[in-house]
Amino acid sequence: MDMENKTVLITGANRGIGRALVDEALRRGARRVYAGTRGPLQHSDERVTPLTLDVTDESQIQKAAAEVDRLDVLINNAGVAIYDDLSDFEVIEKHLAVNLLGPAHVTQAFLPLLKRSKGAIVNNLSLAALAPLPVIPGYSISKAAALNMTQSMRALLAREGVTVHAVVLGPIDTDMNRGFDIPKASTETAARGIFDGLERGEEEIFPDPVSQSVAESWRAGAAKALERQFAAFVRSAANG
Ligand SMILES: NC(=O)c1ccc[n+]([C@@H]2O[C@H](COP(=O)([O-])OP(=O)(O)OC[C@H]3O[C@@H](n4cnc5c(N)ncnc54)[C@H](OP(=O)(O)O)[C@@H]3O)[C@@H](O)[C@H]2O)c1
Repeated sequence: MDMENKTVLITGANRGIGRALVDEALRRGARRVYAGTRGPLQHSDERVTPLTLDVTDESQIQKAAAEVDRLDVLINNAGVAIYDDLSDFEVIEKHLAVNLLGPAHVTQAFLPLLKRSKGAIVNNLSLAALAPLPVIPGYSISKAAALNMTQSMRALLAREGVTVHAVVLGPIDTDMNRGFDIPKASTETAARGIFDGLERGEEEIFPDPVSQSVAESWRAGAAKALERQFAAFVRSAANG
């Protein structure tokens, strides 16, 4: 799907990758960009409509959904990453609330619009979804679970004509990984890679140089083959 004349909603749109996604969607000709943020947001382009949207706040999610009447692409981008060692359950719960249940609730709220447009859901995940980064295990668990959820959504929504994409991000230069002294791609590179992958209809999108290095093996691997095999159960159940 290309972005020309499309309506897109991006969560966590005020900084980092979310902010770059807003600008890249505009550059690609989006007709309207709903920018979900927790605080106030100003943007010079009149095609940007700010939406107050804490993804852990069900009443804000419902209010935001009531303000949108058409949607082609939902990008679940908002996320948190906190250093931990699995000893603090509040930290694990926080990751699950924002990175797993947040996208789950936001998706359900906007699903009627996405079904109507036969649109796309894009979940911004991480290489840590494929293998844990043990300095942020709580984060890794939440992203692995969100990948699993993305795969089920893909199977369940296929018959509705809604496509579901997982973005497997490598290190990107944002506030989130300030502490990591490693080569990082720019947010602009990530945003371009995400929309390029969506245009190509890729189920898993590997938008930066580090993530691209595992793209081929992921696509040819056992997990992908099993996903396809298991998805067939949804089709056979639907066919009676
Ligand atoms: N940067 C990387 O290297 C990297 C790598 C892999 C995956 N990712 C993923 O990419 C996505 C964006 O990350 P980033 O690097 O751009 O992070 P970032 O610069 O830290 O920005 C995080 C964004 O999420 C928002 N957010 C946090 N909690 C929220 C909540 N409860 N409700 C709504 N919005 C919330 C923040 O809003 P506030 O300003 O209000 O806090 C902010 O806009 C995340 O899902 C992250 O896991 C990033």
